[in-house]
Amino acid sequence: MKTIVIYRSKTGFTEKYAQLISKALSCQCLEYKASKNIDLTSYDYVIYGGSLYASGILGLKKMLSQMDFNLNKELLIFAVGTTPPSDGLIATLTEHNLSPELQKHAKLFYMRGGFNYNKLNFFDKFLMNIMKKTIQKKPESERTADERGMLAAFDRPLDVSNERFIEPLISYYKEVTHHDE
Ligand SMILES: Cc1cc2nc3c(=O)[nH]c(=O)nc-3n(C[C@H](O)[C@H](O)[C@H](O)COP(=O)(O)O)c2cc1C
Repeated sequence: MKTIVIYRSKTGFTEKYAQLISKALSCQCLEYKASKNIDLTSYDYVIYGGSLYASGILGLKKMLSQMDFNLNKELLIFAVGTTPPSDGLIATLTEHNLSPELQKHAKLFYMRGGFNYNKLNFFDKFLMNIMKKTIQKKPESERTADERGMLAAFDRPLDVSNERFIEPLISYYKEVTHHDE
């Protein structure tokens, strides 16, 4: 079974999960740019990971358009964000990121990462400051736990990543690859 993990990450959380997954599956792991010249048709399974920015999976569209996926294969995708996992989150992210055609061939997983303001680029810092101001305008009693956590994370990096988040993807992979044997 030839499998590869490809990822895009801005501040390191998705990269960490990509490496954990490749270690667990003993397969190759490449950052998106380094994977550009690779012939993906020679792989049985491609696992793509990208962090969430405004609900979009970083680099997914580019990856799909540039890499000419053979959609007879299954694509496993993992999204990494700060939002706490909840019922319906995967369905919402799937709806937002995967076309109906892609949904037939791809399975989406969610892993919780964290937030590191100091590592963000200028544009993301700008966006986050707009969000910060919007939250701050709300009376404290009306702020959600997520929003309160977000405000706190501006002063101190937040890391809510956990190795256990890779488990559903690993189990699913083992199940489907077992069927292939
Ligand atoms: C501008 C901006 C938008 C974001 N939008 C989302 C989002 O829609 N959902 C979410 O769960 N996390 C969101 N995040 C948080 C990142 O997904 C989170 O920090 C993630 O762990 C970053 O992973 P990376 O270091 O691999 O890029 C956002 C962060 C920034 C800076």
